[in-house]
This record gives sequence, structure tokens and C-alpha cells, in this order.
Amino acid sequence: MLRVRCLRGGSRGAEAAHLIGAMVSRVVTGWVSRAFRSTSSSTAALPLTADEPVNEHTAEDCPVCAHNEWDPLEEVIVGRAENACVPPFTVEIKANTYEKYWPFYQQHGGHTFPKDHVKKAVSEIEEMCNILQHEGVTVRRPEPIDWSVEYKTPDFTSTGMYAAMPRDILIVVGNEIIEAPMAWRARFFEYRAYRPLIKEYFRRGAKWTTAPKPTMSDQLYDQEYPMRTVEDRHKLAAQGKFVTTEFEPCFDAADFIRAGTDIFVQRSQVTNYMGIEWMRRHLAPTYKIHILSFKDPNPMHIDATFNIIGPGLVLSNPDRPCRQIEMFKKAGWTVVTPPTPLIPDNHPLWMSSKWLSMNVLMLDEKRVLVDTNETSTQKMFESLGIKSIKVSIRHANSLGGGFHCWTTDVRRRGTLQSYFL
Ligand code: ARG
Repeated sequence: MLRVRCLRGGSRGAEAAHLIGAMVSRVVTGWVSRAFRSTSSSTAALPLTADEPVNEHTAEDCPVCAHNEWDPLEEVIVGRAENACVPPFTVEIKANTYEKYWPFYQQHGGHTFPKDHVKKAVSEIEEMCNILQHEGVTVRRPEPIDWSVEYKTPDFTSTGMYAAMPRDILIVVGNEIIEAPMAWRARFFEYRAYRPLIKEYFRRGAKWTTAPKPTMSDQLYDQEYPMRTVEDRHKLAAQGKFVTTEFEPCFDAADFIRAGTDIFVQRSQVTNYMGIEWMRRHLAPTYKIHILSFKDPNPMHIDATFNIIGPGLVLSNPDRPCRQIEMFKKAGWTVVTPPTPLIPDNHPLWMSSKWLSMNVLMLDEKRVLVDTNETSTQKMFESLGIKSIKVSIRHANSLGGGFHCWTTDVRRRGTLQSYFL
């Protein structure tokens, strides 16, 4: 049996620390939150006057609020395929992609993904947005940006990639939206596509954090790494050695997955221990970060490997067994093995495995977004008493993500609880 512990309120803790400052700042905080609410639809200067009554923010009126992956979804950011560019074929890309696609990267790196394919992805995602809206979810989109523009920092030169996968860069923890620092040079400036949205959320009262930006200088990457064989990669990954070094913190948001006060993460090709430690200290003491590891030669983003879909309910990829699975069984969780993906071999998946089939998005505990073609996955959900909402995003899959990757849930109705005792 799964035990669930309810916590006070829905917002992040830190009550104790707040107490001292509260007497001094309470009035100011009240003005500011009021002002933010009243300017939510404009960018006018904050109308602060000394005699406005105190009006504290509550978790309920914050535009950003999510505690897990399955509470009823109210607002979501859905990525864009428009202008998607193939990243230049650098060491970190080589280590993260399958050898069969290396010639594709060599040929297309720095240029757009095949145009007709992107066009199909764009219309699939439009349809996905329509269906989400039909299911009662507010859909927000990032800005269209020209990702082919070359940029230069003191440490490197690159072109960009896309704003297709908001999951990779944004994570919502309670009332806070965190921008991940990223680890690929081609994704250094990806946050720019989301800034208009994030500024709006901030004006309306959300807490906004950007994690320390890495320099992404040569020292962040093991230059020798991709020269090894797949068997070698297996061994290296098992030893905790990846293409990214511990030179400075880096992480992608998609390596984290939330279940109330417990957040699970993997050390991956894009998330290093320093990055995990930054998140651990940032979110302590309210949240506990648990490091998981999987038998996976190429870990990158936890959501096609270990996808938590309900309170004590997780899809665990059978090709990538979790080394800590007993911990979940002991806590009373149900570990579900999803069926083999049905995506055909000849369909291009430039940036991922076929396991996007389990990369689903929960609309609530009983409704899930699943690919129309993944009939065996739909059957699995049926046996779990979960209704499949079907959309086909096969061409969108080619850019490296399923429904979970293509979205960031901004607001889910629910409170902070513990599901892992
Ligand atoms: N690396 C995973 C795989 O190949 C795909 C994960 C995609 N997730 C994401 N958030 N972009 O199976």
C-alpha cells in the first residue's frame, strides 16, 4: 500500500526562514503581489501606493503551480518545430546520438532539419494543441526564433537548435519555474524563446530562477568520449563517466521527474553531479532529490526511461532497468513495464530511441496523451483504468521527443504531498 503524507498548503516551504523577515517585508510583499496581479495583462509600471492593504499571494492564485506529473492539468507550454535546426556535430552530440545518424549530422549540422518533415511536425503539434484545448487545458507556445543564427561567446561558437522540447529546459516545482542551464552548446540560448512567457508568469507572481549558466568551454566535455564503442559506453555509464565532466554544473530539466516532495534524477550525458547538487541545495529542505541510475549506455532525459504517471505509479523501461527499483517496491509503488514500441524501423528518429512510446503526458490521473499508432501502449493504459487521448506525432517524434518532452506543465491543480515514505 502506498502511504501519502499531506503537507501544509501548496506552496514551497521555507516558512521558518520567512518568519523573521516577514514582519519587515510583509507590507512590501503585499504591495508587490497585488501590483503583479493587477498588471497581469499589461506591462505598466507597478502602481504602488503606501496605503494599499496587504494581500499575500496564495498558492491558488499563482499562475505557476505544479507538484507532480499527474495532477489535473490546467496550463501547459507546448514546443514548436518551426525553424528547427540540426545542431553542429560536436563531441556532446556525437556521444548522445546513434551512429547510424552521424552522417546526417555531418551533412545537416548548422542547417534546418528536412523542411517537409518539419512541416508535418508543425501540423501534428497544432493538432495536439487543439486536442489539449478540447480537453480543457490552456495551451501556451514559445516564440518562433531563427535558430540558424550563429553566436559566439568567449568560449565557443555555435548555431542554435529549437524550442521544440520545453521539458528539457523548464521545470516547475511548486510556484517556481526553473530554467535549466543546459549542456549542449547548440542549446545555450534556447531560453530566449520562453522569456516572454516566463516574464508574464513572473509579473503575475511566479518565482523565477535561472540556474547558473555554464561556460560550456572545452573542459566541460570529455573530448575522447565518442571514440569508444557502444560496449565501452555501457561500461563508462555504469561507472558514472559521461561525455560531460564535472568542470562546472550543467543539467537539462528533463533529467528530473517530480512526485511531490520527492524528485528523482539521473546523472546523464547532459546532467552532471554538480548540476544535481545545485538542484539539491536549491530545493532543500522542502524537497528531497534522489539520484537513480539505469542500465543505459546513453542516458539523456529520464522521461523515456522512468516516467512517473501517478501517485506511486511508474512506467519503467524494460530495456533500461532501474538499479534502485527495490526502493520503489518497498515504498508500495506499482512498477509497470510498458510494451515494446511500435514505431517502424524506417521512420527517422534523429535524436532518440523508439521509447518515446512511453513518454506520455498525464492530463490527470485517469487521462493520458498517447500516440494514435501505439496501440499496445493504449491497451496497457486501458488495463490501468486510464483513458488514452490519441494524437499522432510521429514526425514530431523525429526531433527527439514524445508528449512529455514536447510540453512543460505550468499549472496542475493539487497540493504538495509525499508519495515516497
Ligand atoms: N533519450 C531518450 C531516448 O532516447 C529520449 C528522451 C527524450 N526526452 C526529452 N525530454 N527530450 O529514449
